Parts: sequence; C-alpha cells; structure tokens
Amino acid sequence: MPSEFDTVIDRSGTHAFKWEFRRHCRDRGIIPLWVADMDFEAPEVVRRAVRERAAHGIYGYTLLPDSYFQSVISWMARRFDWEIRKKWIVFTPGVVPALNFAVQAFTEPGDRIIVQPPVYYPFFQAVENNRRELVHNPLLTENSRCVMDLERLRNSIDARTRLLILCSPHNPTGRVWTPEELKDLAEICVERDLIIVTDEIHADLVSPEHSHTPLAVLLPELADRIVTCTSPNKTFNIAGLQTANVIISDKGLRQRFQHAAHSAGIELANVFGVVALEAAYSTGGEAWLTRLLDYLWGNFALLQDFGAHHFPGLRVFPLEGTYLAWLDCRDLHPDDKKLKDVLLRHGVWLDEGSKFGPGGEGFLRLNIACPRSQLAEALERMAAAFSSIPK
Ligand SMILES: Cc1ncc(COP(=O)(O)O)c(C=O)c1O
Repeated sequence: MPSEFDTVIDRSGTHAFKWEFRRHCRDRGIIPLWVADMDFEAPEVVRRAVRERAAHGIYGYTLLPDSYFQSVISWMARRFDWEIRKKWIVFTPGVVPALNFAVQAFTEPGDRIIVQPPVYYPFFQAVENNRRELVHNPLLTENSRCVMDLERLRNSIDARTRLLILCSPHNPTGRVWTPEELKDLAEICVERDLIIVTDEIHADLVSPEHSHTPLAVLLPELADRIVTCTSPNKTFNIAGLQTANVIISDKGLRQRFQHAAHSAGIELANVFGVVALEAAYSTGGEAWLTRLLDYLWGNFALLQDFGAHHFPGLRVFPLEGTYLAWLDCRDLHPDDKKLKDVLLRHGVWLDEGSKFGPGGEGFLRLNIACPRSQLAEALERMAAAFSSIPK
C-alpha cells in the first residue's frame, strides 16, 4: 500500500535550502541528501493549524499562550516521562541560537568548551564565533559504532574548561546514547564542575530498538548543571518556523540563559510556530510521527540491503536515531571531499564527513528522509559513482 511519505513533492520556488543552496545542483537534477531537512509534508494537523492561522490575515507580534507551554509539558511527559514545569521552558527561535546563548550565558571569552566530533558543525561555530576555545574530544569507532572517549575527556578538562555540548541522539553518527554512557559522561562533568548543554533535537527520531533518555530525566539530581535544547523542528519538518524550547529547571542557570536570549532581543514567538507546535505535539501529530518512524526505518533497511550488495568496501553504521546515516568509506577512498565530488558528478549530494570535524574524515552523511523512490534512485547513482573509482 502506498504511504503518504511516498509522494514526491516539487520544492522548487520555495527557496528550500536543501534544494537551492547550490542552485546549479537543482538545475543539474542532483538529488540533495545533505542537510537535515525532510522532503515530506508536515502532518496534516500542523498544515491545517497554519492554514487557519494564516486565514486570519493579521500576523502581528505574538505572545506564547499558556496552551503552547501545556503542549510542550504534555509532550515531554507522554514521550519521555519527563515532568517539567512551565517556568522551566525558555523559548528560542531555534536550537542553534540557543547553543549560542548558552555559550554566552555560561562562559567567558577565552574559556574552553568541549564538543565530541564528528558532530553537528554549528557546535563549533557557537564556540568560536563567541571567541571561546574549542576543545575536541573525538568519538572512537568500535565495531562500526561510535562511542565516547571518556578517558581522553577526563584529561582534556582544565581549570578554564566550563562547558560540554552534548548531541543526544548524536548527529552525524546516529548513536542514541545509553543511560550507562550518559551516566559515565555526567560523572566526569560533575567531578570537573562542567555545565552540560544537551542538544536533544533528534530525541523523537529514534529506531524501534532504541529509546532516548533525556539527560535531565536520567539524572534529576544534576539539575543545576543541565540545560536541554528541544524542538519540534526536526521531528515535524518545520525548521522554517524557527521554534525551540530550552528546558532549564535550575533557576540560576535559567536566569543567565534568559539574560543572554533577551540581550539578543529574543522574546516574542513566530506566529505560525506557536500554532504549529501545538498541533504537532497533539495526538494527531503523535500518530503521524509513528508512521514517519516506520517509513524512515524502512528507508534505512533499503539502504542497508542495497549497500550490502552494491557498495563494496563501504560500511553503513547502525542508525539508532536521527534520519542521518553515517557511511564509513575509508576502505573505498581516503578523501571524503573527493568522494563527495565524484558523487556530485553522478547526481547525488551528500555531506562529507570531515565537515563534522576530527574523526569524520573518510565518512559520508546521508539523509534518508525522502520518498523511497528518490532514495532508491540516489542509491543507484551512488553505486555508479563508487564503481567509477579506480581500485
Ligand atoms: C543536532 C542539531 N541541533 C540543531 C539543529 C538545528 O536546529 P534549529 O533548526 O532548531 O536551529 C540541527 C539540525 O540539523 C541538528 O542536527
């Protein structure tokens, strides 16, 4: 039976970053499987809510109503057994701005901030653009799976190190950290007095065999050092509505974070973001998410199966969470940038692993959130590209 996610939607004329960033790519019919943006419509409940709000015709400054906060509270309770209070929720226009505010709020210029690459590259920018020092604690690869290097982490922390930015689930390696891994990490952060900013934007996008545990749920006793970034942006493909919620139960941390956000002039919401979030976090949005997850892991199964037969020398890492598959191409070609160029010449656009920092070299990141027919075509093109590489 066809799925609602099978429909190929022409995004031309919508200024879609994924399709238009390199205009020449669209003109050349290149399939873009790079940035974390899905080629699926948002759930009908969300589209209806936005349509109804748009029909009103006045789009002035908009407050966050109580119903907005109740939607966030209810979602966290239903999905993660996380009992949060309204006053813990701080609105920001996206998780990336929130990361920048966190850096400004909790550190001083010159302080050291730890990230665990390969990781979502705006983490680096949030540190460096704010004139803090970036400290890499690269992940280790064990049996086609990435793990944290806790020993190295312990040794990387000095008196000027204040903050660790965690990506949980992890983009781009597809890991969903286990409670044990998170506890071990947190233990070091407590020992060395670090604040942890945990970016949990991919929390809803987890495979059926795995389950995401918010750090703040696992370790409520560490509330005074945990800042959690959440958003419906990835889950419901509404990133253009720029709506995120940072959950901070500790009053002191929250006030510092709020001060940084207010200093940047952030206070009021996106008029469509408010109604979209409420609709997304409803039971209708939740039912759509169940179907989406089923489809995404069907796409991943296609990638695994196709890759096993047609991508010799390439390993597809298990996808525990996110819709971003991590492909180990080191035996195929050592230079991921060259590999990306070969792929572009064959009509498919992936992100090169080195973009995500140390440890990403020789990898590619593949966004599988597109109609299956499009993914199948992209995989054929990838196979042709790989077979064109001299052995
Ligand atoms: C880990 C992570 N954080 C944040 C974002 C972007 O968040 P936002 O669009 O809410 O700024 C992404 C998008 O890919 C991401 O993967």
